[in-house]
Amino acid sequence: MKKASVILDRDFTIAPVDPRIYGSFIEHLGRAVYGGIYEPGHPLADEEGFRKDVLAMVRRLGVPLVRYPGGNFVSGFNWEDSVGPRDSRPRRLDLAWFTTETNEVGLHEFYDWTKKAGSQLMYAINLGTRGPEQARDIVEYANHRGGSKFSDQRIANGKKEPLNIRLWCLGNEMDGPWQMGHKTAFEYGRIANEAAKMMRWVDPSIELVACGSSNAQMPTFGSWEYEMLSECYEQVDYVSLHQYYDNAANETESFLARSMDLDAFIRTVASICDAVKGKKRSKKQINLSFDEWNVWYHSREQDEQIKKADRWGRALPLLEDVYNFEDALLAGSVLITFLNNADRVKIACMAQLVNVIAPIMTRAMGGCWAQTIFYPFLHASQYGRGTALRALVSSPVYDCAVCERVPILDAAAVVSDGGATVFCINRDMTEDCALEIDLRSFGPLRLEEHILLHHDDVKAVNTEADPYRVAPCGGDLGEMDGGKLRVRIPALSWNVLRLRPCER
Ligand code: AHR
Repeated sequence: MKKASVILDRDFTIAPVDPRIYGSFIEHLGRAVYGGIYEPGHPLADEEGFRKDVLAMVRRLGVPLVRYPGGNFVSGFNWEDSVGPRDSRPRRLDLAWFTTETNEVGLHEFYDWTKKAGSQLMYAINLGTRGPEQARDIVEYANHRGGSKFSDQRIANGKKEPLNIRLWCLGNEMDGPWQMGHKTAFEYGRIANEAAKMMRWVDPSIELVACGSSNAQMPTFGSWEYEMLSECYEQVDYVSLHQYYDNAANETESFLARSMDLDAFIRTVASICDAVKGKKRSKKQINLSFDEWNVWYHSREQDEQIKKADRWGRALPLLEDVYNFEDALLAGSVLITFLNNADRVKIACMAQLVNVIAPIMTRAMGGCWAQTIFYPFLHASQYGRGTALRALVSSPVYDCAVCERVPILDAAAVVSDGGATVFCINRDMTEDCALEIDLRSFGPLRLEEHILLHHDDVKAVNTEADPYRVAPCGGDLGEMDGGKLRVRIPALSWNVLRLRPCER
């Protein structure tokens, strides 16, 4: 058995955890909206056509915000198509996914859904085919009290009170050649600045996210952030980061090491924000919105076939990755990395929420079930709120194809209500780990619960027929000895150690 240790001290704080890191994302893509959250005629649909079984699972995840309506989709989207009487809303060709958008669910319906889900709406505007004028108009429509063209339209469409959307994305992945209205960093920085300025003039209370690179492998990564922020630094609050992972090479050790470059990605973008801050002699700090992250590769071949067979179809089953156990471990290590960067990562969205690269799956007229990745997200969202602590990890390491000296133990800790929760992964493929956690400054604590997610087969998946094949169970409760917890962490496992103060 391998040995690792963690030192936690109440004074080694990183930052308060912003609960918005447990955000998610729903795009008008595939069966996310139609056949996912919305399926009128389903036995469990409510009076507005929203599936109550899906809503219950979303509420269980405790998702504080949902990014919407795209994604690539938003770069060709006209927000006006999605409001007003349903029977006069146009059907449009969506050039992002080569499908047809009916606009049956639009801004009002989705806003109502977020209320039912206990979430806030994070609304993305189109800076691909459109510009500052339409950006100004949608803020007026959503947030102005009334007495102007667009706010009065909202009232006429049934919403007397403003929607008060606080968080807005200034476009999506504008550095990507696949994007409708793709731009250079300078072009994007300029248009983002002007859109942001006008949006804030309508509603000064909003927060704005500028598009960073689509991923850290983009040839323009780094220079994109620097150049576009040089144009819009004072007008925006966050820069977006996106990253998807794959294990197409089928090398689990390398796959599980990817949080190492995720950490570097985050620190690099934070440094570039600070470099622009320095250049501008600004007092303002830009933080990070990691508003698309997940594993995405299982469905790629299937998607090619679907697109060939039914170009311009409606609600096609696109991006329906079926996640296995190792994907859940990777999702867990992403969440650990966000907690360890809580000083800069203030918003994050697992992409996406239902059916499309999602923790929740549905069958048309059938059931819904949790994919493997549902569980680390659930646990982090439930127990990862409070103040993130710097966990001093001492661990054996391994070398793999993508990285050297990868610690077998990946860990993060959050303190709340006098107790602490430690999230940790044993990346070792074969050996359990004897973990010692030194809780020197906490006073008497006891391990109230050890939640364990493990499966002997890294490729094990959950399906509608076998929905709990990969599901959490109770782990070793170990022993407390003079302020030190000793506990066994199985090979390849996700662990949540919930330490509570001892009752006097
Ligand atoms: O989430 C799927 C797609 O991935 C989004 O539409 C896009 O922003 C990203 O490339």
